[in-house]
Amino acid sequence: MSALPSAPASNAAATPHLATKLPGVGTTIFSVMSALAAETGAVNLGQGFPDFDCDPRLVQAVADAMRAGANQYPPMAGVPALREAVSAKIEALHGHRYSAATEITVTAGATQAILTAILAVVRPGDEVIVLEPCYDSYVPNVELAGGTVVRVPLTPGSFRPDFARIAAATTPRTRALIANTPHNPSATVWTRDEMLQLQALLAPTDVLLISDEVYEHMVFEGEHHSAARFPGLAARAFVVSSFGKTFHVTGWKVGTVAAPARLMEEFRKVHQFNVFTVNTPMQVGLAEYLQDPSPYRELPAFYRAKRDLFRAGLAATRLRLLPSEGSYFQCVDITAVSDLSEADFCQWLTRTHGVAAIPLSAFYGDGTDQRVVRFCFAKKDETLHAALERLARL
Ligand SMILES: Cc1ncc(COP(=O)(O)O)c(C=O)c1O
Repeated sequence: MSALPSAPASNAAATPHLATKLPGVGTTIFSVMSALAAETGAVNLGQGFPDFDCDPRLVQAVADAMRAGANQYPPMAGVPALREAVSAKIEALHGHRYSAATEITVTAGATQAILTAILAVVRPGDEVIVLEPCYDSYVPNVELAGGTVVRVPLTPGSFRPDFARIAAATTPRTRALIANTPHNPSATVWTRDEMLQLQALLAPTDVLLISDEVYEHMVFEGEHHSAARFPGLAARAFVVSSFGKTFHVTGWKVGTVAAPARLMEEFRKVHQFNVFTVNTPMQVGLAEYLQDPSPYRELPAFYRAKRDLFRAGLAATRLRLLPSEGSYFQCVDITAVSDLSEADFCQWLTRTHGVAAIPLSAFYGDGTDQRVVRFCFAKKDETLHAALERLARL
């Protein structure tokens, strides 16, 4: 018997050369700042997650589901009761009926929903418009699909969409546009008029919309205008939601996407082979919990109180407040406090004053620096008070 041919001894244990598919991607600023906050004992208002627990009734509903044996694969698109509950919620809030059978899919958080939508529709050579500053997964997602990222800035200072620039960036190769309202990081919320302008702009095109609405239940001024409300947008949109954000369970990674059947058909082809399905007991528990609308109906008041507490404290510092219309973020202008760049300021603030924040430059491909940093106020009141006490010394 001859032995199997073996690689030359010198190469035997060497990992083959691999050119990275994502040369621009390193450790995210969120991980860097969280690690620095932990190392220095700073109050972490950087990364966007609550430091308080979820409703015990939700935990109970999930525990009940596990004990009742809901522990095997659910249907690929998600537990039917959860899809029904989400469909009913969207109809009640936005007046658009998505079929639970063919138009709603449960995902492993909004992150997987966005990646899956992009992989399903973007081909090499297609252009995808992202509005900067933007959430950090969008650009690498488009690059993984072989698409070309077209960056359009939101209006500097106000962070409102600039429709003339979006129109100018739209070409026959534009496959999709990614919008996000309420917006991370700027905390702006698109108005009805802005949604109508987007609808009019896209009407003569074949551009699809990926509408990232993970902060949909955290709106403090006016209301949330989902793409689902606008027939011309709903017909071309993947509307993305996150239970992690809505119910203070970011670690559970469960979200949903709603889209017309034709788009959802393609979405599910990819979903089926990148995650297949999402854990069953969370879905069963969430379906049960959603029967009572009060938790998400009470969310704006809950976060408005935190926003107001935090803003009142910041108003007494030399940081200049920007509006916070929605999401759980508050941006501030640092000009009166420091000459440092946003990134250096955040390092300095963490090390010297013990409060971690995120530089807005991290949300731009070219590192645009407007002297603005972002705080997350999804924190216990005592955490916010501790941070404010430190910020008052600036
Ligand atoms: C704008 C935006 N989209 C998507 C996500 C991801 O949501 P999930 O945790 O459900 O994947 C986040 C989380 O920070 C976000 O801020």
